[in-house]
Amino acid sequence: MKLQPVRGTRDFYPEDMLLRNWLFSAWRAISTLYNFKEYDAPILEHEELYTRKAGEEITSQLYNFTDKGDRKVALRPEMTPSLARMVLAGGRELVQPIKWFSIPQCWRYERTTRGRKREHYQWNVDVFGIETVHAEAELMSMLVDFFTAVGLTSQDLEFRVSNRKLLQVAIESIGIAEDRFNDVCIVFDKVDKLDKDTLLQEFSQIGVSEPQAEQLLRIAEMDTLEQLVQAFGSESEAIQELQQLFDLAEDYGYGEWLSLDPSIVRGLSYYTGTVFEVFDRERSLRAICGGGRYNHLLSTFGGKDIPACGFGFGDVVILELLKDKDLLPNTKLQVHLLVGTYDAESTGYAIDIAGQVRMNGLSVECISEPKKAKWIFRHADRIGAHWVCFVGPDERKEGIVTLKHMASGEEVSCTPPEIVQHVLGEQS
Ligand code: HAM
Repeated sequence: MKLQPVRGTRDFYPEDMLLRNWLFSAWRAISTLYNFKEYDAPILEHEELYTRKAGEEITSQLYNFTDKGDRKVALRPEMTPSLARMVLAGGRELVQPIKWFSIPQCWRYERTTRGRKREHYQWNVDVFGIETVHAEAELMSMLVDFFTAVGLTSQDLEFRVSNRKLLQVAIESIGIAEDRFNDVCIVFDKVDKLDKDTLLQEFSQIGVSEPQAEQLLRIAEMDTLEQLVQAFGSESEAIQELQQLFDLAEDYGYGEWLSLDPSIVRGLSYYTGTVFEVFDRERSLRAICGGGRYNHLLSTFGGKDIPACGFGFGDVVILELLKDKDLLPNTKLQVHLLVGTYDAESTGYAIDIAGQVRMNGLSVECISEPKKAKWIFRHADRIGAHWVCFVGPDERKEGIVTLKHMASGEEVSCTPPEIVQHVLGEQS
């Protein structure tokens, strides 16, 4: 019997759960501040939801199987198709703009590396029903607020932003056939990861000649809007949208977090406009999050399109980064009070005290079996009890307790109803 979880998956011990819940609460808090509503969907979906376009890495990484009813199903590798399915099924009942978030667990049969596992939790925030980059600007503002809340700054992180329409115009002007667009995006997405020879080779495999590929690579290296204007003219939709997004970023006050990077296209085929990824500036880690606009996903499912955009933000890389920067919260296990007794006759008294304190919303570990003082105080230390209330026949007869504050060692004698004030005051 193997004691390790399946490769690429994680067990969450109680300390790990504290950290996970801390992260999820921060995500939920930001979502709520911006009035995004939480939704969920089954982790198991119809496989056809993901078998979109050939060439996407995500499709080759599916955890798929045939169930006992002969249905082809898959563990979701991402949430966007489930969300699109729900939006389509919800139809006109749903009030637009639809502003929803979720924190699903996603499964991808990936090569496991630092920051990439075979399951991860992913904060998804999406908007349906807003055509302009005002939606993207709000999503980015949420991200900046989240990063700021956990102690990260624009010195630590960089939002690398582009627009897929840029590549569309580019391939047209270079003379690459329009129907090559998806293939070009998939190779272009690897610009940062592969050396030039391999890239040229991959481009040639999809019918892009060396001179054409060289031109594409030159675009990938541009890093100002002026350069793009020179190459494509100021009238291009891509440039206008980028310009508006950068202007809105200034209005929101997070302009310094963004930089233009035409090499960003993202590996998923459904993006149609703005695309972005957030990286640590030291580039020691994989992308922290990524997203963009996908205005035509619903029609690929047979429905009527609604303009949409959103992002996915995994739990793995951000926790690595916060750990590297020493920004993780204290996730020591703790409990407000430990109640114990050394005398079998006082068990009822101890249980009663524990119940009274719990009624006031405080957490209590009640050791109802009689124990020696040494055991109780050692245990209090190990479980992180802030206070200990250890009772015996004398206390029971007098209707009082002796309360010890573990951090200072101070002791105080009080009645059971007074315990709560001491614990809340955190001093004797
Ligand atoms: P994605 O770029 O494939 O986009 O994933 C988004 C984020 O999920 C990544 O930036 C990373 O934080 C995390 N992530 C992805 N794969 C793994 C993995 N194997 N291990 C750990 N973390 C991972 C999407 O999934 C899009 N559906 C996002 C989206 C939502 N676009 C619009 N709305």
